[in-house]
Amino acid sequence: MIQARFSLIDHNGNAVTQEDYRGRWMLVYFGFTSCKVVCPRSLAKLSDVLDGLGKEADGIAPLYATVDPARDTPAVMKDWLTRNYPRFTGLTGTEEQVDQAKRAFRVFAERKPDSEAPDGYVVPHTAISYLVGPDGNLKAHFLDSLDAGQIASRIEEFLKEEEMAAHARN
Ligand code: NI
Repeated sequence: MIQARFSLIDHNGNAVTQEDYRGRWMLVYFGFTSCKVVCPRSLAKLSDVLDGLGKEADGIAPLYATVDPARDTPAVMKDWLTRNYPRFTGLTGTEEQVDQAKRAFRVFAERKPDSEAPDGYVVPHTAISYLVGPDGNLKAHFLDSLDAGQIASRIEEFLKEEEMAAHARN
């Protein structure tokens, strides 16, 4: 079972865990900023999803967790995300912290030599996004094959359900 648990450093240099996001939704994606195709495509799509949700996106924290902490320092992630995918907050940490987060989300990612890539390696990774509820539990995961509209309607369903549950509690 996937546990949305992590102890990482956000791109502003703050130590964060899942508890810091309690009460908000999280949309979590793992990758690395030197990724040529997969991350740019996924982050652009998820940005479209959030744009499509309009004001409803205010309650969602979009998080991009690196699988390449050796290169993706907080400063590198902040610079790259601010320029390209400004909705996202980057998360990084020590190798051990990143490994723990990967294990918790069951993300696969491993360095692979590539003579044409910067620094001679790439980090192929799972291309799934994870929706975590305000209670800290994983609500859904979205395969890379889904388009922005499909993901947005799934998320809207969850937000509506949560809103109805909140009304029922009051
Ligand atoms: Ni990538």
